[in-house]
Amino acid sequence: MKLLVPKINFCAGLLAAALLTGCATNQPTTLKAAFKKHFYVGVAINRDIATGDAVQADNVRRTPEQVQKDIALVKEQFNQISPENDMKWQIIQPRPGPDGYNFGPADAYVNFGLRNHMYIVGHCLVWHNQTPNWVFQGTNLPPETANAPEGRGPGFVFGSYFYNGPRCSRDELLERMREHIFTVVGRYKGKVKVWDVVNEAVADNGTNLLRNSLWLQIIGPDFIAKAFEYAHEADPHAILRYNDYGLENPVKRHKLMALIKSLQAQRVPVMAIGSQTHVSVSSPTFEQEDQELTDLESLGLPIHITELDVNGARRGQRGNSGDIAASAASTEGGLVSEAEQKQADAYSNLLRAFIKHKSVKLVTFWGVNDGVSWLARGRPLLFDANDQPKPAFYTVMRVATGKPPEADK
Ligand code: XIL
Repeated sequence: MKLLVPKINFCAGLLAAALLTGCATNQPTTLKAAFKKHFYVGVAINRDIATGDAVQADNVRRTPEQVQKDIALVKEQFNQISPENDMKWQIIQPRPGPDGYNFGPADAYVNFGLRNHMYIVGHCLVWHNQTPNWVFQGTNLPPETANAPEGRGPGFVFGSYFYNGPRCSRDELLERMREHIFTVVGRYKGKVKVWDVVNEAVADNGTNLLRNSLWLQIIGPDFIAKAFEYAHEADPHAILRYNDYGLENPVKRHKLMALIKSLQAQRVPVMAIGSQTHVSVSSPTFEQEDQELTDLESLGLPIHITELDVNGARRGQRGNSGDIAASAASTEGGLVSEAEQKQADAYSNLLRAFIKHKSVKLVTFWGVNDGVSWLARGRPLLFDANDQPKPAFYTVMRVATGKPPEADK
């Protein structure tokens, strides 16, 4: 103990982290250093962080001072970034055609990564959410008015949305997908190292393998293979990822595995599995996570944990519906009791499973702190809204050193 006091005075930044993780013995005080031997430790960044301005996109309200602190924490702790929203179709190509692109925010994101020497992920090319209506609307087919609600013009209904005009044809949609992928992947070729090519295509419930999306209805099940082929052509060196959530659930996981095996049998260039890992303080257990990773690694591909957060809300955990708004809303109703300790334990279980499985090459937290998280009410991350480390941070750092979870208590 004698030595500890003078040495700690030299530790910049996370004083408390140093205390618990052992700055005095030269042990790492950052996530990226602690897990260096195992995997990249990344974070999804919002537009405030990418641009350095409090622009208040991504449903996030931070003061300019908070944005600067968030940026400092991102640079200090992480060596990989993912874009929380700014590469999604809705934002990067809000309108049709070559003039319909809005590259500003995505360029800022990529430049942030390059400036800070980070491993840059692109998210996401083909998804049923956050995709503008025009993508699915046709130009040369007769209107399908049969499903139009009373009083609406020609159009078609899908889910809870009404789309104007006729639905596009398979060829039109494939051409739009190809043009989009070539433009976006081509623009960041060599800079974005990993792409989420298809996001959340597997069905949650029932016996169907694939989610009933407009991609599936209009193109057919080969929309997935086509997306990977186009992306591979656009950047042959990029790692192409299939990304989904709820893989802790064995039923959904086995559907995903069937999908990937069928893509592999067709020689589709799917190169990594993304497991989002939006979980809650009560599940999965270490054993369940261990089993998930054992199953997934039988596919022979690297595994990326792409959107990690541990929701402490009473009705936490991402809903099964795949509906983002509903999932975010489900975090209302207060935190579970002892949420912080349970969360620390949950993170410990997860991280122990990740380091046990050598095929886990990258772990991305879905946001830098509780204040900017999409599930802010469930306070799901390692840092609080003031960028201060929470108990879960110290626990995770202990896991990295290989100490048993209770060793420092
Ligand atoms: C979320 C963002 O965090 C929110 O800001 C946005 O409003 C909705 O999307 N699965 C994904 C991510 O693949 O893109 C989602 O991100 C979270 C669920």
